[in-house]
Amino acid sequence: MMMSISQVDPTLAQFLNDRPRRRVAVIGAGAIGRAVIDVLARGGVEGAELACVVNPHPVPDVDVPQVTVREAIRTCDVIVECAGQVVVAQYAATILDAGVDLLVSSVGALADQALLERVLRAGPGRLLFTSGAVGGVDLLASAAVEAPFDRVRVTSRKLPASLLQPWMDDATQERVRTTTEPVEIFRGPAGEAATCFPRSLNVAATVAFAVGDFDLVEVSLVADPAAELTTHVIEAEGPTGHYRFEIANRPSPANPRTSGVVPHAVLRSLSVLVGRPVRIV
Ligand SMILES: NC(=O)c1ccc[n+]([C@@H]2O[C@H](COP(=O)([O-])OP(=O)(O)OC[C@H]3O[C@@H](n4cnc5c(N)ncnc54)[C@H](O)[C@@H]3O)[C@@H](O)[C@H]2O)c1
Repeated sequence: MMMSISQVDPTLAQFLNDRPRRRVAVIGAGAIGRAVIDVLARGGVEGAELACVVNPHPVPDVDVPQVTVREAIRTCDVIVECAGQVVVAQYAATILDAGVDLLVSSVGALADQALLERVLRAGPGRLLFTSGAVGGVDLLASAAVEAPFDRVRVTSRKLPASLLQPWMDDATQERVRTTTEPVEIFRGPAGEAATCFPRSLNVAATVAFAVGDFDLVEVSLVADPAAELTTHVIEAEGPTGHYRFEIANRPSPANPRTSGVVPHAVLRSLSVLVGRPVRIV
């Protein structure tokens, strides 16, 4: 269990409690957003106060106002996106231009070059991506500063049902749905992967941002009927060394496309954004 400073010393806890908190809006109340909302609502992130929630349908058991994105921008210091790529595409630049910080879960949205350029020009709000379902990106980003990688590969293995896409023709959908053995359903650069599998390949986009090159990252996506856990193998070779990370995440019971660890990653990213963290970042 993670121990926060406030659990160590009650005087310090009081001091931290008295510090001004940043007003946080959460967009999306699904597998990730609901868990984030619940932790924020009970004051679980030092320096953050849940101010409002944005969701297309009413969210039960929430004591803060449920508002539109535009109202959230007007009243909050930080917006946490847990809704999907469309929301990032539609609102990221507006949020940042209003001076509101934005924490993004749907990292794959920014594989779109035109959107990325627009968002990078926006501000003064700060833009942060959560590391989400993936690990090792800190080390990859550090290594990429020394020199570009020669080769980066992400192999993701998921349950077939979580990989079905509206653009797949009937024959492909049937092949993915009924396969009895692992089948590679995509191989290509990270940008294309994030666009073709918008809810499933945020991991590839996150790795691509870490190494600073979407075209360099080769993605292989495997539909595996035996994949009880969602796995990602990240391999990178470059002048600073060779790296291999293997991640096996249990899917969220609320949404098998999302790993159960992701809300905790989002909350951790948020605490870095709002507080004075004493931790590894
Ligand atoms: N970075 C990562 O590692 C990672 C991992 C998993 C998911 N994700 C991203 O996080 C997103 C959310 O994941 P999830 O599992 O919680 O999805 P989910 O489908 O369980 O929940 C999405 C929520 O967003 C709401 N929503 C949809 N459109 C909206 C809009 N226009 N405005 C406000 N709310 C809207 C939905 O009503 C729903 O409550 C995914 O779409 C995916 O892009 C990122």
